[in-house]
This record gives sequence, structure tokens and C-alpha cells, in this order.
Amino acid sequence: MTRQKIVAGNWKMNKTFEQAEELLYAIAEGLDETDTDRVTVVVCPPSLYIEMAGDLAEESGFFVGAQNIYDQDSGAFTGEISAPMLASMGADFVILGHSERRNYFGETDDFINRKVKAALKHNLIPILCCGENLGERSQGIQQEIVRSQLLKCLEGVSHEEMMKIVVAYEPVWAIGTGVNATPAQAQEMHAFIRQLIAGIYDDSTAEQITILYGGSCNSGNAGELFSQPDVDGGLIGGASLKVDEFLKIVRSIP
Ligand code: PGA
Repeated sequence: MTRQKIVAGNWKMNKTFEQAEELLYAIAEGLDETDTDRVTVVVCPPSLYIEMAGDLAEESGFFVGAQNIYDQDSGAFTGEISAPMLASMGADFVILGHSERRNYFGETDDFINRKVKAALKHNLIPILCCGENLGERSQGIQQEIVRSQLLKCLEGVSHEEMMKIVVAYEPVWAIGTGVNATPAQAQEMHAFIRQLIAGIYDDSTAEQITILYGGSCNSGNAGELFSQPDVDGGLIGGASLKVDEFLKIVRSIP
């Protein structure tokens, strides 16, 4: 996968079946070819709705992502969903290492690393999230935190596999708070992440990696965030639940 402009909507744990259907149809109808030619649009609904999303996605030119997987392919893991299951239902992407999974469900970098490998094995493109919390930012150690998360989550990932991974920088203090990172803060961290990837892999891999920004991104701030040279698009939470807002964000890609 070469570097591309991506806008991905992370619905989190929202929408009943009827509501999901309504939003998916509205997205499918609202997107036109000029959008999907310019931008890779990814919709990540709860896993229950992946199949419905997949059916619409094909005609409408968007892609479907899951919000999580387990690290094993199958077996006695009550309540879990695996990468091959999601791939067989039509998912193309999967969000991994989201801070809500890390904080509420105790996911470690080590576990996320195993999930990254499970996703790659079944051709799901990981959207690998990283980002510091408020305390870490106020101590000025945000780069060390992101470095450590990425080094661990990417352990044993080959150069070739890295080319299939999308990175999302999501400062925890910006998620769902209404306080987005400034364009300068986002650019600074995205450039740092690119440098880090160059260090682990090489310059051309770093140049080819897509790095998304996430955290209170909306139609009012997306244009400025997306115009930063190392910001290739966004991972959108709350604002992806309203079709007009989501489409405006897609159209904010320069
Ligand atoms: P938010 O969430 O846009 O609601 O801040 C972003 C995310 O968690 O991916």
C-alpha cells in the first residue's frame, strides 16, 4: 500500500441496527466518485454491522473496518471475534491499539503486537493507534511514549508488512474532549513518527507510510490539520456519527 489520503470513521459502541442502517445508507448515498477517487474512506461500525457495511461499500467505493480483533484465529475464546472472521465478512481494515482498548480493557503493547500480526496474516490493514495522555504531554515525554508504543507494537513486523500498516496518532487528551491537537502539535508528532519509522525500517518506507491524526477532529478543524505535510488524513470518532459532518471531513482533504 502506498501513502494515501484516508478518512476513517470510528463509530465506537454506537448505533442500533436501524440507526446503523440509516447512517450507512446516508454515507453510501452522500459519497460520490470525486470523494472516493481522492480519499480512501473507511467506515468502522461495530462488528455486527460489518456485513451490511460491506454490501454497501462495494457499490459506493468506501472501505470497511472493524474496531478490534482477538489475536487467535479460532478456538475457545468466548465473546471474541477473529481476523479471519472479519475478513470473511468483508472487512478491509481494523483499528488496533486504540487508547480506549488500552485503558478500559487493559490491552498492552505486547498484546497489540500479536493482534497486528494476526490482522496482517489475514490481509486486514491495521490502523495502529498510538498517543500520549495528558500527564505525559505535560511532562513533555510524549515522544518517548509514542516511540515506546510503536517499537513494541511493531516488534517482528517485517519491512514488507510495515508497508501494509496505517499509523494513527491519537493523543488521549484530545479523544472525545473537544480539544484537538493544534495543527503544529500534530505535524510535530507525525514528523517524529515518520523519522522513527525511517530509523526502524528506512527512509522510503517512512515516506510511504500513511499517518492519520485522531482526537476531536471535526469539519471545523480538519482542513487545517489535514494540510500539514505529514498528516495524511484522520481517524474520526464522534464526528463520524453524523453524515454531513463526516462528508465535510472527507472533503476537507486538500
Ligand atoms: P473523537 O475520537 O473524534 O471522538 O475524539 C477519535 C477516536 O477515538 O478515534
